[in-house]
Amino acid sequence: MNRAGEFCVLLCFSFLFSVFFSSLHVVGLDSGELILGCGSAEAGKDADGRSWVSDDKYVVSADSKMAKASFQDPSLPSSFPYMSARVFTSEASYKLPVNAGKRYWLRLHFYPSSYESLDPADAYFSVVAGGVTLLKNFSAYVTAQALTQAYIIKEYSLVSEDSNSLDITFKPSPEHNGAYVFVNGIELVQIPDLFESAQMVGFSDQPVDAKTASLQTMFRLNVGGQYIPPSNDSNLFRTWYDDTPYLDGASAGVTNEANVTVEYNGLPDYVAPLDVYRSARSMGYDKDLNKNYNLTWIFQADANFTYLVRLHFCDYFCTKVNQRVFDIFINNQTAQAAADVIGWSTAKAVPVYKDYAIYVADGKGDEQITVSLHPSVTADPPPEFYDAVLNGIEIFKMSDAAGNLGGPNPQPSEMLLKAEAEASARASAAKAFAPSDSNVKVITLSAGGAAAFGALAAIAVSVYIKKKKVYGTETHTSSWLPISGFSQTNGSKSHTSAASHLSSEAQGLSRRFSLFEIQHATKNFDESNVIGVGGFGKVYKGVIDGTMKVAIKRSNPSSEQGVHEFQTEVEMLSKLRHKHLVSLIGFCEEENEMCLVYDYMARGTMREHIYKGNNPQLPWKQRLELCIGAARGLHYLHTGARYTIIHRDVKTTNILIDENWVAKVSDFGLSKTGPNMDKGHVSTVVKGSFGYLDPEYFRRQQLTEKSDVYSFGVVLFEALCARPALNPKLPKEQVSLADWALHCIRKGVLEDIIDPEVKGKINPECLKKFAETAEKCLADHGAERPHMGDVLWNLEFALQLQESADNGGSSKRSSRGEGSQGSQDFNQVGHPDIHALSIGSEQELIGNTENTNEVSPQIVSQKGR
Ligand SMILES: *[C@@H]1O[C@H](CO)[C@@H](O)[C@H](O)[C@H]1NC(C)=O
Ligand SMILES: *[C@@H]1O[C@H](CO)[C@@H](O)[C@H](O)[C@H]1NC(C)=O
Ligand SMILES: *[C@@H]1O[C@H](CO)[C@@H](O)[C@H](O)[C@H]1NC(C)=O
Ligand SMILES: *[C@@H]1O[C@H](CO)[C@@H](O)[C@H](O)[C@H]1NC(C)=O
Ligand SMILES: *[C@@H]1O[C@H](CO)[C@@H](O)[C@H](O)[C@H]1NC(C)=O
Ligand SMILES: *[C@@H]1O[C@H](CO)[C@@H](O)[C@H](O)[C@H]1NC(C)=O
Ligand SMILES: *[C@@H]1O[C@H](CO)[C@@H](O)[C@H](O)[C@H]1NC(C)=O
Repeated sequence: MNRAGEFCVLLCFSFLFSVFFSSLHVVGLDSGELILGCGSAEAGKDADGRSWVSDDKYVVSADSKMAKASFQDPSLPSSFPYMSARVFTSEASYKLPVNAGKRYWLRLHFYPSSYESLDPADAYFSVVAGGVTLLKNFSAYVTAQALTQAYIIKEYSLVSEDSNSLDITFKPSPEHNGAYVFVNGIELVQIPDLFESAQMVGFSDQPVDAKTASLQTMFRLNVGGQYIPPSNDSNLFRTWYDDTPYLDGASAGVTNEANVTVEYNGLPDYVAPLDVYRSARSMGYDKDLNKNYNLTWIFQADANFTYLVRLHFCDYFCTKVNQRVFDIFINNQTAQAAADVIGWSTAKAVPVYKDYAIYVADGKGDEQITVSLHPSVTADPPPEFYDAVLNGIEIFKMSDAAGNLGGPNPQPSEMLLKAEAEASARASAAKAFAPSDSNVKVITLSAGGAAAFGALAAIAVSVYIKKKKVYGTETHTSSWLPISGFSQTNGSKSHTSAASHLSSEAQGLSRRFSLFEIQHATKNFDESNVIGVGGFGKVYKGVIDGTMKVAIKRSNPSSEQGVHEFQTEVEMLSKLRHKHLVSLIGFCEEENEMCLVYDYMARGTMREHIYKGNNPQLPWKQRLELCIGAARGLHYLHTGARYTIIHRDVKTTNILIDENWVAKVSDFGLSKTGPNMDKGHVSTVVKGSFGYLDPEYFRRQQLTEKSDVYSFGVVLFEALCARPALNPKLPKEQVSLADWALHCIRKGVLEDIIDPEVKGKINPECLKKFAETAEKCLADHGAERPHMGDVLWNLEFALQLQESADNGGSSKRSSRGEGSQGSQDFNQVGHPDIHALSIGSEQELIGNTENTNEVSPQIVSQKGR
């Protein structure tokens, strides 16, 4: 009997299944999906191994062009479908086969690039599909710029009307002169009915019917878990992102994974893949802490729309009802009181989801959706644990009464716009003399998947105070820093404006901590936890989330400079992730406290391991490895990130070492994006540390990445000679290490100043290479200094020389004779062999020498030049 029942279910299911697929076959859709690479004559595969076919058969247009992108951004996952596009200069459409009455995903892919030498900034258009306006006055260029993404994917879920075809109409915006349309990829995937009706939050008697609604996916997160690529979704090719960028740092709770088998018990598996249910975020183990905070996620939203918020749950710890009971708030209103996952699912490790609808009105230009969980403390009888749990969130925008889903383009921040202009100027300058881009290294930035569906963080418009520059009378303020309308120094900031100093984008990429958490981590800023003091303030060690060691930099609340550097550092660091850069974990900005939270670097600064401190002095090879690590970090800052970033304060105390002896560059408080290659430099106030300052920089106040190269040269000599960059106790000519080292090299007596600890142990060839490299870094003119990439290459070569000598056992004591022989090359100071540099001649880029800004005389005399 039981058997028979099972069999019937199986049979019925496979019958339905075959009907589902065979009916698709009739209308020419293989396996229920149509994946079109627009403007491409051939088919091709993407990074996930999915095939994209030509869109030729489906275009309905008199004038359409197939075009290739001129440049492949390194962050593109694959050339398909982004490197080719269909371009229309007048209204055009696609006619795609569908099954009447069925629901589909429609995904549109856009890679704003120059097609047919059209300016990507001119592509403004609207898209209407099946009578629903998907996009209005859409600019993929502006959107990508605002989100600092190379490409944009928009996902919609539509129900086809009664017809067997879906018309997608693209129309250039009449308001914009010379507007045109481009599209790189169109995906149409038939899906089961995913939506029913949802309860309107705050109105118990107002269900919202989503069954036939047209929706746009705004966010789809695997809460407490990892990024899930389309190929690992349960057959619907959805992408699930990590939730951390959306957490309100008031506290992030704890993440955990199922230690039991999660089973869909009646829930169709297409609702979400198992990976979503196998990982979760809960509040933590401290009952008292849990009672005092909300586990909150924040999402930016377009105003005047209703949103469907789908929460996925799976409790794999509790087994009974009333063990873990919590309240769910959406936009501060109770969406669900006393939620009990086991009560819903009836068993442990069984998934369940709930839908809620919320209307986002036009507020102050900062529209958002917040989802908060809090343990039910009023439940009677009280639950066994004061805790809450969530496994996944999806947020969909519902079309309005006029059948519209289009929102405004997000607005790029001032800082981004400026950096973008600089980057493109730089790119075109570089193109002019770069032989080919064949050996361009691709470094991918993990942006934490923050840029989910091209709807996001940067939508909120920040207020900027902009000091206008008057040519010739530069005021040297960092006019590009986004600053909120509130002034930190006035100390009258209200709580609601917390973190308003930061662009919402930066906030989105790093975790926001509450002051309470920071105080908890540092034992209320206990002096015994201080591990360093800098210009910014004190640095404390601390522990967050129970076990994670962090370094917390607390700013001096009274310093205005601190505010600027705080902003810079969060903006910069939140976008940068590299093995040789100290990672920013998050920040706290509350009640006039500004704190930055970093990875804890167990072994402290590089300086401590060379000459200052109680540590044994490092052997030469290890010093060399640290220098190489730091050079990698700097090289990445200069070239790997989306914009050139100049560190401006390279020194041995800003090179930190983790427990595995990996050197990491830290302290970006002074960093600047640039340089503007139109002028070849960034004009700015002189900042940095004495002893490391590029002489050209304060002669002309022009900052290029070569200023970092100079400072790094000083770091190299510090590693070799084990003495500070500046030692006022020494005779006058020896005070500055840079000057003294160059002097010794010219005289051929560099050996005399090498750290006795390593002196006899350096292979002479290695020493020669190393000293030569360091010397070139200290060249008087930036244009004569090598690029960081060349420095890195030379140091690696020096290490090889050392290693092969060590291994061959032929390591000779370096004799004075060999040293002076090497110094032959060193005598060419001021005329370094520029052929040795890959992009040697930058002379033409550094034009303007008429910068007459006065230089602080104090600094000049300090330098003693
Ligand atoms: C996707 O699934 C495959 C096979 O199950 C697995 O090996 C891979 O790690 C998954 N990828 C991600 C990013 O989860
Ligand atoms: C998983 O469960 C088993 C037995 O129930 C237990 O021994 C093991 O420690 C658990 N593992 C984790 C990581 O909790
Ligand atoms: C929202 O609707 C109101 C009233 O119709 C309108 O004034 C406002 O401009 C709309 N806001 C947006 C962002 O479209
Ligand atoms: C919810 O409350 C918080 C704190 O009171 C406030 O900052 C936020 O703007 C509110 N959100 C909405 C959508 O009203
Ligand atoms: C949690 O959020 C709700 C709704 O915004 C609010 O009423 C409540 O005070 C918050 N609780 C805590 C402890 O912050
Ligand atoms: C179109 O979008 C651009 C960029 O966001 C905006 O500046 C412009 O005002 C919009 N035009 C219309 C007619 O909405
Ligand atoms: C706020 O700052 C401005 C400019 O620094 C100053 O003139 C003003 O007096 C300050 N206001 C208060 C309330 O401190």
